[in-house]
Amino acid sequence: MVATAGNPWGLFLGYLIFGVTGSRASRAGGQIINGEDCSPHSQPWQAALFLDNEFFCAGVLVHPQWVLSAAHCFQDSYTVGLGLHSLEARQEPGSRVVEATLSIQHPEYNKPFLANDLMLIRLDELVSESDTIRNISVASLCPSAGDSCLVSGWGLLVDGRLPTVLQCANVSVVAEEECTELYDAVYHPSMLCAGGGQDRKDSCNGDSGGPLICNGSLQGLVSFGQAQCGQVGVPGVYTNLCKFTDWIEKTIQAS
Ligand SMILES: *[C@@H]1O[C@H](CO)[C@@H](O)[C@H](O)[C@H]1NC(C)=O
Ligand SMILES: *[C@@H]1O[C@H](CO)[C@@H](O)[C@H](O)[C@H]1NC(C)=O
Ligand SMILES: *[C@@H]1O[C@H](CO)[C@@H](O)[C@H](O)[C@H]1NC(C)=O
Repeated sequence: MVATAGNPWGLFLGYLIFGVTGSRASRAGGQIINGEDCSPHSQPWQAALFLDNEFFCAGVLVHPQWVLSAAHCFQDSYTVGLGLHSLEARQEPGSRVVEATLSIQHPEYNKPFLANDLMLIRLDELVSESDTIRNISVASLCPSAGDSCLVSGWGLLVDGRLPTVLQCANVSVVAEEECTELYDAVYHPSMLCAGGGQDRKDSCNGDSGGPLICNGSLQGLVSFGQAQCGQVGVPGVYTNLCKFTDWIEKTIQAS
C-alpha cells in the first residue's frame, strides 16, 4: 500500500471534474465517499464554480468578496454559486450567482509538483451575509493528528453522476509523518492528509477546492489523492491553509 501510494504516477492530479485534460470521470470511485446529504445550508461558506454553465470545482467564501479554491481549478473567469444546496436548482431561495473575472494563483503553485495548491478568486461584487451565505475564517493554527474535520462537496457519485445535494463527511487528520510516508515523492509542508479510515470516508473528483473545516475554521482545501478514492489507509490530500494566512490576507488587501 505504501509503495503504491508513494508512486506519483498513481496519483490523480487534482479532483477536477472537467480537468486540464478535459477527460471526465476518468477514474473509479465515488462522491464525497461514504458521506451523507449535508443538512441544507449548514455549510454557508461553500461555493460552486461553474464554467459555461458546467460545474467543475468548489471553493470557500473567506471574505465578502473573495473565494478561496485550489490553484488547479484556475480559469480565466468563473460563475460562482453561493448559498446552494442542490446544484440542479441554481435559483434556490437564498442562493446567489456572482461572476468573477480576477483570480490569483499562489505564486509557488506546483513548485514543487502539486505543492501550494490554492488561489483567490475575487467576486465582481460584494455579497452580503445571510442565513445561507457566510464567509469563514482560515485557521491560523496548524492541525494535529486525530483532529476531526468535515469535508463537503458535490463531487461525482459512484455511478459517475453528480449528487443532487451537497455531501458531507467527517474525516480525521493524519499524522504528518504518515502523510509524508504515504505520499513520499510529492509530500510538501503545504499539504495535509485526512481520511483513510476504516469507514472509507474521503473526498473525490469534483470536490477540488472545497472546504475541510476543523473546529469551526477552514483548515484545508480538497487538493488531490489516489486515483481510487475511499481506500482504507490512503487519506486524501488537502492544502494546509495554516501556512498561507499571511499570503491570503496580503493578497486580499492588495487587490
Ligand atoms: C467575514 O469577512 C469579514 C471581512 O474580512 C470579517 O470581518 C469577518 O470577521 C468574517 N467573518 C467570519 C465569520 O470569518
Ligand atoms: C460529524 O461529526 C459530528 C460530531 O461527532 C456529528 O455531529 C455529525 O453528524 C457528523 N457529520 C457527518 C456528516 O457525519
Ligand atoms: C476549538 O476552538 C476553540 C475556540 O474557537 C478553542 O478554544 C479550542 O481550544 C479549540 N479546540 C481544539 C481541539 O483545537
